[in-house]
Amino acid sequence: MSWKPWAGVFTQATDPRVEGFTESVSFDRRLFAQDIRGSIAHAQMLAKVGLLTQQECQQMEQALLEIEDEIRSGRFVFRTELEDIHMHIERALIDRLGDVGRKLHTARSRNDQVATAMRLWVREAIDHIDALLRQVQEAFVGRCERDGQVILPGYTHLRRAQPVLAAHYWLAYCEKFQRDRDRLADCRRRVNVLPLGSAALAGASLPIDRHDVARRLGFVDPQTGQAQVSANSLDAVSDRDFLLEFVFDLSLIAEHLSTWAEEWILWSSEEFAFLKLPEAFCTGSSIMPQKRNPDVLELIRGKTARVIGDLQTLLVLVKALPLAYNRDLQEDKPPVFDAVDTVQACLEMAIPLIIQTELNAQTIAERLDRGYLDATSLMEYLIRRGLPQRTAHERVGRLVRRAMELGLPLASLRLEQMQEVCPEVDQGVFQVLGAERAVSAVQSYGSTAPAEVRRQIESWKHRLEAEKGPPSRT
Ligand code: ARG
Repeated sequence: MSWKPWAGVFTQATDPRVEGFTESVSFDRRLFAQDIRGSIAHAQMLAKVGLLTQQECQQMEQALLEIEDEIRSGRFVFRTELEDIHMHIERALIDRLGDVGRKLHTARSRNDQVATAMRLWVREAIDHIDALLRQVQEAFVGRCERDGQVILPGYTHLRRAQPVLAAHYWLAYCEKFQRDRDRLADCRRRVNVLPLGSAALAGASLPIDRHDVARRLGFVDPQTGQAQVSANSLDAVSDRDFLLEFVFDLSLIAEHLSTWAEEWILWSSEEFAFLKLPEAFCTGSSIMPQKRNPDVLELIRGKTARVIGDLQTLLVLVKALPLAYNRDLQEDKPPVFDAVDTVQACLEMAIPLIIQTELNAQTIAERLDRGYLDATSLMEYLIRRGLPQRTAHERVGRLVRRAMELGLPLASLRLEQMQEVCPEVDQGVFQVLGAERAVSAVQSYGSTAPAEVRRQIESWKHRLEAEKGPPSRT
């Protein structure tokens, strides 16, 4: 009969079909390092409070590190009947140390153990994703120096609207990804709370020191240095909020990436011809020899669906679960791992693409007088000359219609032609017409005005540079 921790009360062996159905080691083996880290901290605490001798603790520590080594090197043998990574590691410890190994699970349950391992894993994942987001921001800020001065048509409803500096576009994404980073940092505060010591659901009658474990595992408030320990054991073993909010944060990152990918797919098309994607990041067609397809961007856009699906899975999984631990919760891991892997892979593709893609400045400039990008600039000029906004809007509308009939941009109309429609116009109008002048005329805070964009660039450079200090959060 296979080894089972609950063999005491059972008289029947588990049906192998049940073992196959209930196992999680095929996916939760990814938690081995976090499980071992948690076990070592637990053992050290047990020794501190006198539930283990120092010698037993040292034996355990050493054996656990050996087991970690074995798993890392691929020598470790996984067996379905040992269910999950936690039982595998404990079993391997008992195989090595006998009765000493049989003490590790003192005042601990897999319920608080798995919650602890997940929190440690997610904390690392957050830090990794954050570092990648930072690289994305650096890539965009780097672009600002290269081609930030290029004037692009800005769009609303995917129709030409007003001219903007390319840097303004790049930095718009920095803002979005900064909010993602802020959300992750906020989520991290709630992840960074120790559930271990909640045991199965009610806590333990043994004299454990949960705050000591929290400090050993870095579950500490970075500001106050205080150990962060869950306050209610029933909540602690059932709580998966931190996974849901983390995967929501990842979903939003994926959404932002999908917007960017969609935009660049369009911009690199023959129709737009704004961008030239690096060939190393494109693929060809098996039938149409001329094609250079933006598959990487398309997949970034497409993989967003997976991440949102992962969030959906988690939301439905925890719906209406009674307290406290239920085996359903084992199903939390695949969507979390998938969401992290997917977003990480997308970010790793986005970084070189952002850096290596070329802007077709000349093609863009040649077509910049299409679409009446300067109409709003003209309207604001009329407002400055005392016209009510509604009147100015209507006048410019009529001017645009006139220009369209003549097949000309606004700047190519003669002054008299303009004055026929709008007598308030004088020679000064030419100062605000044309995309370049229209951009220069803008001045509000946060706008595409060249001075404002310069301020944004400097502030991003400063901000990203300042972060380079030692990251000492865990
Ligand atoms: N493999 C389980 C999970 O991932 C571990 C906890 C099992 N606890 C239990 N009481 N059966 O959720």
